[in-house]
Formats: sequence, structure tokens, C-alpha cells
Amino acid sequence: MELKQVLKERRTVRRFSQTPIPDEELRDLIDAARLASCARNDQRLRYVVARTPELVNAIFKFTAWAGSVAPRRNPVPGVSAPTAFIAVIGKKAESDTPLLQTDCGAAIQTIQLAAWEKNIGCCWMGAINRQEIHALLGLPEESAILYIIALGYAAEKPVHDDTDDPGKVKYYLDDEDLLHVPKLTVEAVTTWK
Ligand SMILES: Cc1cc2nc3c(=O)[nH]c(=O)nc-3n(C[C@H](O)[C@H](O)[C@H](O)COP(=O)(O)O)c2cc1C
Repeated sequence: MELKQVLKERRTVRRFSQTPIPDEELRDLIDAARLASCARNDQRLRYVVARTPELVNAIFKFTAWAGSVAPRRNPVPGVSAPTAFIAVIGKKAESDTPLLQTDCGAAIQTIQLAAWEKNIGCCWMGAINRQEIHALLGLPEESAILYIIALGYAAEKPVHDDTDDPGKVKYYLDDEDLLHVPKLTVEAVTTWK
């Protein structure tokens, strides 16, 4: 798939096929993330991959989905739930710093793009109970979860709609249950000097 197509078509996915993702494919995603830009090239992020059904189900209980259309994009366990999670980890003492948060954004976006090419859908998740997931993953006290990414082979194909109106960017479901994600146009977000 051409990069431009990936960039245009990648959307957050919240309905997943129940076919497990092979470890090698998940490894490829981390392999992409580890090469992403990061401040001073310090490479402070770490990744925990959860892909056993027991652990994935346990983590799932501490996630919240698509607030703007809730509960209509809540995945259903055993039917449309993610089959893996990747937790992005930093040191607790640094976890709120802009540079580490920015590194995390670059890494997660890289994972999302690499995943899309493999038809693996992702949902970058911040509405999570970090404390409970930290305990489930058995992480050391000095580490912190920045974000988690839910993953699974995509079982929906949301679309983006171009808009010039910053007041109309809320994602929505149409009558066919297709998720639309309005995106501001180049003209709406750019000033040329
Ligand atoms: C920092 C961040 C946190 C997010 N947290 C959640 C979340 O907890 N639950 C969820 O369903 N989606 C979450 N999302 C996904 C956004 O809703 C989604 O990226 C946005 O609607 C734009 O859609 P797109 O990714 O298809 O462009 C998050 C995205 C980002 C960047």
C-alpha cells in the first residue's frame, strides 16, 4: 500500500475480527515504533504487548470507547473486541513531561500507520484506568503507562469527511452504522506567509 493511501485512509478502528494477530506482526509494529523520532534520541519508551485472551479481556474492562457515539462503538467481548493491547511505558517521574509525551505520540502514530498497512486496526486509548492496567501487567512501581493501543484485524472501515468548519469536527455514525470522522481541510488549518 502506498504511504499516501495509508495516510489518507487510516482511521481509528473500534470493531475487530477475533482472529489473533501473530506475534511476528505485533513485533513488526514495535520494530517501527522503536525507529520513530524522539527527543535527543534518548529512547525512553518501553512497550508491553498483551495478547493472551485472559489478559486482553482483563485489560478491556478498564477501557472506554468513542465517547461521542457511546455506547454504539463499544466493542463486544468475543465478537468485536480487540485481540491485543500494546501499553506504552515510561518512567513514572517523567511520564507527564512534554518531551516524553511527544515521543509517545510519535511512536503511537508510527504504530498506527504500520498497522494499517497490515489491515490491523488500532485505537489509541487515553480513557483508561492506568492504575488497574498497571497492576494487571505487573509493572514496577517506578514505571507508568502513558497510553495503550487496542489492536485487532479491522472489522470496520470508518471514513473521513473534509470540512472547513472547526465547529463540525465531532465524529458520528450514519444510518448505515458507518463511522465518519470529519477532518479540517488544508485551507482551514494553514496560514501561508
Ligand atoms: C491521545 C488520544 C487519546 C485517545 N483516547 C481514546 C479513547 O480512550 N477511546 C477511544 O475510543 N478513542 C480514543 N482516541 C481515538 C480518537 O477518538 C480518534 O483518534 C479521533 O476520533 C480521530 O479519529 P482518527 O484516528 O480516525 O483520525 C484517542 C486518540 C488520541 C490521539
